[in-house]
Amino acid sequence: MSLKSVPTRGRTLDYAAGVYDIFEPMLLFGRQSMMNNQLIGLLEIKESHKILDIGCGTGIVAKMIADKLSSESGGCAIGIDAAGKMIEGARKKRGSKTCLFEVAAAEELPFENEYFDSVISTLFFHHIQLDLKEKAFAEAFRVLKPGGRLVLSDMHIPTTFMGALISHASRWILVQPQIGENIRGVLPGIIEKAGFDKPKIVSTYFGYITVFLSQKPSKESNDRHPDK
Ligand SMILES: C[S@@+](CC[C@H](N)C(=O)[O-])C[C@H]1O[C@@H](n2cnc3c(N)ncnc32)[C@H](O)[C@@H]1O
Repeated sequence: MSLKSVPTRGRTLDYAAGVYDIFEPMLLFGRQSMMNNQLIGLLEIKESHKILDIGCGTGIVAKMIADKLSSESGGCAIGIDAAGKMIEGARKKRGSKTCLFEVAAAEELPFENEYFDSVISTLFFHHIQLDLKEKAFAEAFRVLKPGGRLVLSDMHIPTTFMGALISHASRWILVQPQIGENIRGVLPGIIEKAGFDKPKIVSTYFGYITVFLSQKPSKESNDRHPDK
């Protein structure tokens, strides 16, 4: 029986699940593994970590993370996606003891508070509207342990002419106003509004994908700055 998608106003990719692994490397000019490795390095993974991948698609990033974890030490990567077909494919191709996948919406995560050591999300936030972006970051904040890292790669203010061309063309061709929000630069403000530290820009790929690193403030820093 096929997995049911969960309702969301986000743009889910059930229809693309079967071909996603063929097309995504092309869209990333063959630099997908290099980019993912950089992102994963930012997580500073320990083998006991529990790590959430939001909007995981077919689970490529979650699997790369899971390979660094040990189930004996309690480590696991959990990928969530609102599209049932994406999760079906991810489980079939990449599921393991340390690599689990669940159908869930980013704006309503089925996990308890402070469950994860870190949270990652790649190329997902341009699929949801502003209010859902806010809810999804609030949820990421809730499920992350104090001091836990947030690593994000997504469309942001383009930095090159080609980057601007790709961003604006995809916004109009895909009829996706959510992309317009990203290219106006809304992400850092929403991340901070959810309670995270001010995100740092770590790098930019192809002039249109930006890598952000942030953190949920630790309990000690909250004690030092009670009004934070
Ligand atoms: C472009 S794909 C990115 C997949 C993967 N992270 C990657 O880097 O290849 C965006 C994913 O977000 C999922 N999605 C859309 N709205 C969602 C929501 N509200 N909650 C969770 N996933 C959602 C889509 O189904 C799709 O698989």
